[in-house]
Amino acid sequence: MSTTLRSARKEDIDHLLAISSEHELKTKNPERIRAEGFLVSAYPREVYQRNLKHITIAEVNGEFAGFTLTFPSEETPPEVAPDVARIQTVIGAAPFFLIKQVATRVKFQKYGVGRAMYERHLSGQKVPAFAPIVLQPPNRNLVSIAFHERMGFKQAESIRDEHGDEKSGLWCWTPAES
Ligand SMILES: CC(C)(COP(=O)(O)OP(=O)(O)OC[C@H]1O[C@@H](n2cnc3c(N)ncnc32)[C@H](O)[C@@H]1OP(=O)(O)O)[C@@H](O)C(=O)NCCC(=O)NCCS
Repeated sequence: MSTTLRSARKEDIDHLLAISSEHELKTKNPERIRAEGFLVSAYPREVYQRNLKHITIAEVNGEFAGFTLTFPSEETPPEVAPDVARIQTVIGAAPFFLIKQVATRVKFQKYGVGRAMYERHLSGQKVPAFAPIVLQPPNRNLVSIAFHERMGFKQAESIRDEHGDEKSGLWCWTPAES
């Protein structure tokens, strides 16, 4: 199965909303959560609209298969301010690359679509990349952890709740030294 990547256009937004809704946590039972992962940041149309240039679309045989929403640190919008603040507790004021959303449609999962999108983002990347992952019991996103660790990310920090359970974590990929 070959994946092609391109920039997002206005006409893609319905697809983006459909895939976000396919992965919405509250619509999934524990079995689907374990098998497919999930998204928690359910953005409205305007957010995708406003950030079109930060969205990469993956297609398989011309069919919409997945997307990423990513930001270089110098172009982060207000809706990711909490992520920016967290990342800065790890790396201070240094530049970084934020992967805010990544999703592959269920029917295309485990065929290399996510890998293709990440390889595009990480190839030639000069700054560390960060991806926040939900760990809140009982909804630890094990699929996302497995995926990110396969792509070379390591856990860099976590936030815990009042019981000491991890609520969410930041996974970090570091560029090879040149
Ligand atoms: C996480 C997600 C984007 C992965 O996308 P994908 O297109 O299925 O991933 P790929 O097929 O490219 O897999 C890349 C690597 O990750 C591994 N991987 C992917 N899904 C996995 C899973 N469920 N369990 C274990 N490993 C997995 C693959 O084995 C593969 O390794 P390899 O290339 O070395 O063989 C997809 O599962 C998804 O959209 N989940 C729902 C949304 C989500 O959880 N997003 C992350 C929020 S933080």
